[in-house]
Amino acid sequence: MAGGQEWRTPPLWGIGLTQKVNGHTNFLHDGRARNLLEAVMWHGGEAQAARDKVNSMPKADRDALVAFLESL
Ligand code: HEM
Repeated sequence: MAGGQEWRTPPLWGIGLTQKVNGHTNFLHDGRARNLLEAVMWHGGEAQAARDKVNSMPKADRDALVAFLESL
């Protein structure tokens, strides 16, 4: 059972269609991220290392990551 400190990792498939289907690009359970990169930057806990990697990537790689997410 998931305790109060645990999170279900949401599937990312279809996330690139959010604007088209939902008319917005807010992410995370409470919609506080205004775009995909912000959603990644809000990661913490077990996902902190992934967040830090994205943060220290060259911009071209970050852009490629966002393009990938938008292709899903
Ligand atoms: C660079 C790698 C990663 C990318 C690009 C990524 C991307 C995303 C995105 C775009 C969302 C928002 C989904 C939505 O609102 O529908 C999300 C949410 C989430 N991700 Fe990741 N993620 C990464 C790594 C991780 C890792 C390593 C973990 C866990 C160890 C994780 C756990 C979660 C959880 C629990 C949420 C939901 C948080 C909430 O709703 O507030 N992610 N991720």
